[in-house]
Amino acid sequence: MIFGVIVAGGIGSRMGAEIPKQYIEVGSKPIIIHTMLSFLRCKDVDKLIVLTPADWIDYTRELCDKHLDDPDKVCVISGGATRNDTVENALKFIDETYGLDEDTIVLTHDAVRPMVTERIIQDNIEAVRKHGACTTAIPATDTILEAEDGFARSIPDRSRLFNVQTPQSFWAKELKETYDSLSSEERLSLTDAAKIYVMRNKPVSIVDGEVYNIKITYPSDLVLAENMLQ
Ligand code: CTP
Repeated sequence: MIFGVIVAGGIGSRMGAEIPKQYIEVGSKPIIIHTMLSFLRCKDVDKLIVLTPADWIDYTRELCDKHLDDPDKVCVISGGATRNDTVENALKFIDETYGLDEDTIVLTHDAVRPMVTERIIQDNIEAVRKHGACTTAIPATDTILEAEDGFARSIPDRSRLFNVQTPQSFWAKELKETYDSLSSEERLSLTDAAKIYVMRNKPVSIVDGEVYNIKITYPSDLVLAENMLQ
């Protein structure tokens, strides 16, 4: 089976809104609904697991019933304290509810990237089948420097740098086993699931993202999203 895992367990502190940013309405629907619709358009995705803060589960269920033609394709469960905990909750739920076999694929995706396309999702599925794991990314356009104490220490060659987006996709069983193998120090250094694979020298292929597949983080991002999602 192929699962879309929509991580929506954050509170959106940088957005500074009264509600978690994934519930803000843009283009006449909540952002999280646009994201679910992008995945539901892709017929190869069998189920969506949506992980929200615990006290937003009932409201999210109501939103699914109101906006989606096939709300039964969506399970809404509780996220975790960090983004990685949220992904792990999804893997545990899939394991307990459906079982994790060798063919199970998970596409992990930020709820606040509603502009993900069917092409990106399909390319993720193909990349897992071909290479075992992938992250979506776009080539860096700005020069990026590494700083220490307020001074530039190194300026890596830009042609080798990418901005990471989501989805990031994996064989579910392997991802769960890799999470389970982490020490507590390794857990602290985790930023995203792809980093675990890089730490373990496992291949992570790169799927071409899109400049507009942005993560809605600050109020200014809402303006761009409003234009795109109208
Ligand atoms: N996320 C999650 N579980 C957490 C924290 C984050 O599922 N415990 C999700 C967010 O809901 C979001 C995605 O991870 O869809 C990307 O994270 P980010 O943009 O940092 O979201 P927030 O943590 O909500 O934002 P902020 O850092 O501004 O508080």
